[in-house]
Amino acid sequence: MADKLVVAECGVIAEADCQDADCSPPMQDWLTEYNRRLRPAHDALDAVRSDQRVYVHMGAAAPLALLDALCGHAARLRNVEVLHCITIGPAPYTDAGYAESFRHNALFVSANTRNAVQEGRADFIPVFLHEIEDLFTSGVLPLDVALIQCAPPDRHGWMSLGTGVDISLTAARAARTLIVEVNPEMPRTCGDSMLHVSEAAFIVEASHPLPVFDQGEVTDVHRAIARHVSALIPDRATLQIGVGGIPEAVLASLKDHKGLGIHTEMFSDGLIPLIECGAVDNAHKTLHPHKVVTSFVLGTKTVYDYIHDNPVFEFLPNRYTNSPQVIAQNDRMVAVNAALEVDLSGQVCSDSIGPVPFSGVGGQADFIRGAAHSKGGVPVIALPSTAKGGKLSRIVPTLKPGAGVVTSRADVHWVATEFGAVNLHGRNVRQRAEALISIAHPDFRTELEQIGATLFVR
Ligand code: COA
Repeated sequence: MADKLVVAECGVIAEADCQDADCSPPMQDWLTEYNRRLRPAHDALDAVRSDQRVYVHMGAAAPLALLDALCGHAARLRNVEVLHCITIGPAPYTDAGYAESFRHNALFVSANTRNAVQEGRADFIPVFLHEIEDLFTSGVLPLDVALIQCAPPDRHGWMSLGTGVDISLTAARAARTLIVEVNPEMPRTCGDSMLHVSEAAFIVEASHPLPVFDQGEVTDVHRAIARHVSALIPDRATLQIGVGGIPEAVLASLKDHKGLGIHTEMFSDGLIPLIECGAVDNAHKTLHPHKVVTSFVLGTKTVYDYIHDNPVFEFLPNRYTNSPQVIAQNDRMVAVNAALEVDLSGQVCSDSIGPVPFSGVGGQADFIRGAAHSKGGVPVIALPSTAKGGKLSRIVPTLKPGAGVVTSRADVHWVATEFGAVNLHGRNVRQRAEALISIAHPDFRTELEQIGATLFVR
């Protein structure tokens, strides 16, 4: 992953590298700019003041050295809002001991911030992923400081946002002060993935591996769901698939498909074998043919290495990748997203367990709507029929009080469990209840019919 122009340990781009490359005068200019902006992490974080809003780069790109340094300023800071969509790796600003200094505001609740949100030490904003950037640029959520992690600059002074363009490119440019952590372990990615050295107020060098995302176990239930979902996916489909056991199992079941393409908000390890075996060739995509369109990557070092300098990938911001109007321009768009609970009328809860925030809205509704409007599109919600070791049905007469509806019952189409897949679109509420009961776990069907009869099944 080492670049031609790696940043030397001393903090100055190595002379020898500069001589090896074609150093035109503009390059010398950016080298000067780069070195002028270099700071130790603690000094760079002097820029943060009490009562400010600080954006943190999303996903695997959370700038760990800058976050440590931010916490090093806790004693002088009060009421700093730390805002991000999802990060993996440590989130030290959520520690209870920093409660007076920092309060996290989650655009998506991730595993590393869930306790803080659920214990009331952090907050949650329900929002469509494709609309978040507008919050930064419209003045609804103005950003004081953005903490971003990039790969080292290329010979023109451009630093790649690596694993995440998502909402972070816009955040970096919307923030009044941009602080960039330059990490040689960050892959350099193609697409709208570059920030120029001159855009940063301060640059901090750090070298550390990117955190790895735990995909969870793929179970027999996930594989059974995947069999029903893959039967809905035609050859030459364009896919959006998230992370977790169900998406991994669906991807593993698609190796015999032909001519598939990818347009997704998130890319992970499970898609690599499909590209390598030729099932995904992107050749038949009606938008961005021959390219994998994505906005961020979560996974292991394997996928982080795979995207490095790989021109098949087009990393683009979420306001584009997740716009339902853009998604719909892909014919045969298949969106597969998971859920926590579905009620008998088809309302899909995916972001909370009752009133308790669990994850977020993310791109689910964006892709379900985009796929619904695509020619030959297939929007799918997939979930195991039960939770808690089979004790709870996830097909329920009514959602738990306080549950968040991510996909509305007017948006929902296919719902799949390990017992089959049913299409609710255009069906009345009584027909939906009957269809959903047919794919509920058999242990709960009688109870669902009895309660459902008092609600919908007349
Ligand atoms: N009642 C109570 N608890 C429930 C439950 C229910 N109806 N359904 C699930 N749970 C529990 C599970 O038991 C599990 O608990 P555990 O971690 O203690 O075992 C936990 O909630 C997570 O359930 P699981 O089915 O394993 O979730 P997942 O990891 O497959 O994620 C979503 C599912 C819905 C949370 C996830 O897909 C998501 O966040 N979606 C919204 C955003 C989105 O779809 N974006 C687009 C794709 S990137």
